[in-house]
Amino acid sequence: MDKFYITTPIYYPSGRFHIGTAYTTVVADTVKRYKTLRGYDTYLLTGTDEHGQKIQTVAENNNITPQEHVDKMADMAKELWAKMHIQYDDFIRTTEDRHTKIVQKIFEYFLEKGDIYKGYYEGMYCVPCETYFTKTQLVDGKCPDCGREVKPMKEEAYFFNMKKYSERLLKLYETSDFITPEFRKTEMINNFIKPGLEDLCVSRTSFDWGIPVKSDPRHIVYVWLDALTNYITALGYLSDDDTLFKKYWPADLQIVGKDIARFHLIYWPIFLMALDLPLPKKILVHNWIMMKDGKMSKSKGNVVYPELLMDRYGLDATRYFLLREMPVVQDGVFSPEGFVERFNFDLCNDLGNLLNRTVSMVNKYFEGKVPTYVGKVNDVDEELEEYTRKQIKLVEEHLERFEFAQSLQELWNIVSRTNKYIDETTPWALEKEGETLKLQACMNYLIENLRKIAIMLIPYMPDTANSILKQIGITDDELKTWESMEKNDKIPETTKVIEKGEPLFMRLNVEEEIEYIKNGMKQ
Ligand code: MSP
Repeated sequence: MDKFYITTPIYYPSGRFHIGTAYTTVVADTVKRYKTLRGYDTYLLTGTDEHGQKIQTVAENNNITPQEHVDKMADMAKELWAKMHIQYDDFIRTTEDRHTKIVQKIFEYFLEKGDIYKGYYEGMYCVPCETYFTKTQLVDGKCPDCGREVKPMKEEAYFFNMKKYSERLLKLYETSDFITPEFRKTEMINNFIKPGLEDLCVSRTSFDWGIPVKSDPRHIVYVWLDALTNYITALGYLSDDDTLFKKYWPADLQIVGKDIARFHLIYWPIFLMALDLPLPKKILVHNWIMMKDGKMSKSKGNVVYPELLMDRYGLDATRYFLLREMPVVQDGVFSPEGFVERFNFDLCNDLGNLLNRTVSMVNKYFEGKVPTYVGKVNDVDEELEEYTRKQIKLVEEHLERFEFAQSLQELWNIVSRTNKYIDETTPWALEKEGETLKLQACMNYLIENLRKIAIMLIPYMPDTANSILKQIGITDDELKTWESMEKNDKIPETTKVIEKGEPLFMRLNVEEEIEYIKNGMKQ
């Protein structure tokens, strides 16, 4: 069985997670479910990035120790992922021994090799971002990332010799396609590699919430060397038991947001080269979820927490919106109007109605028993079959390329086409005219397409997929596999359609719900 190892970034546990943070995890979970469905032995890693000055400050402000703070936050993260049915296999915390010990080993190894050397760090420092900037990087004299004040700082520090690996990295960029989308690669080459890579500062003495350098404990390992290595320490790299590491490394897909692309596309491959380890097969860089008035921020009162949507509209509607509306390669905008519209149109009208109409017709005309495949009998049967086959390929191709929005769009084209098929075949007229064979074909095609739609929905909206399969009476696991979509004559004669299924989604009152979401954003 082929393996597929997926990672999310490890999240800073500084505050509650909003839909932006949840987005990366939902994407990872969707890929995990898809690859599992395709027969891979999958492994999904997520976790929390618990060290650094910012965490220390947040804890101090709350009058608790950093450890107490991160414990609480890691629990909160796990609760959220449980609520969102995220099927992660491991949750790594950078304060765990299994991580800190190995980070220390890696640091010493780099020191011995001469990849890490001691020097002085000088620059303009942004405390909340924990990042030094050169004067030219500042925007109006302020932090280019968060726009806040920066201050000049100088400290003794260890550096990683990035320059040494710069050529090798460039070669790697030229010869492999491990970066998706492609334009991120060009961005890295033009903005960072060609102008000359700066060595990376990998230790700090200005605060102590971090992993001490074994041979020089006044220093703590600075955040990116600590954070990035989670992807291998979680698998037991350099530990007494490295079975998982041997099995799953290199990662097949590492998912990161655009703000941390530089760290994952430059420093991470270089650390791996320095460790003589194979590089991840694919790093997917996604854009951001924005609001109409820019970034989400508490001060603007425009933050959307996943609970706000999930608790009222359900997990699957939330997942659907995130995956359908947020293109990976450009920023997506969240708006309450957009959410309610997608809910009513795509989920209620298109998908929900198709299921309702079909189930009630099979009940009315055939006492709930799905007629067996009788061939292409109606004028449009052939076309529907062909169209569906073609669309399934597109859904799959986009999904394989991690183009979730396009994949869902193609899937919804099948939903619309199938709804149109009802209007074209007019089953109510076929019944009146006593055209039993045509009516049988029609019902069989409808159920068959719903079965396929449900299978393709498994990675995206697992609960909805299951309830569709249940309502159309598909219990046999063999009829729920991706491969089973290839043939049309799958449904056994005796399949019983459940009599009155719960509607998948209830139509929303547009004004009321827009108001509800807007109010929730202010809290
Ligand atoms: N701790 C680092 C990652 C270390 S990985 C070795 C970090 N954490 S974070 O909590 O700030 O961000 C985690 C992820 O959430 C990043 O991939 C980031 O891009 C993503 N997002 C944060 N806000 C987002 C949106 N508004 N939209 C989409 N993704 C967003 O960075």
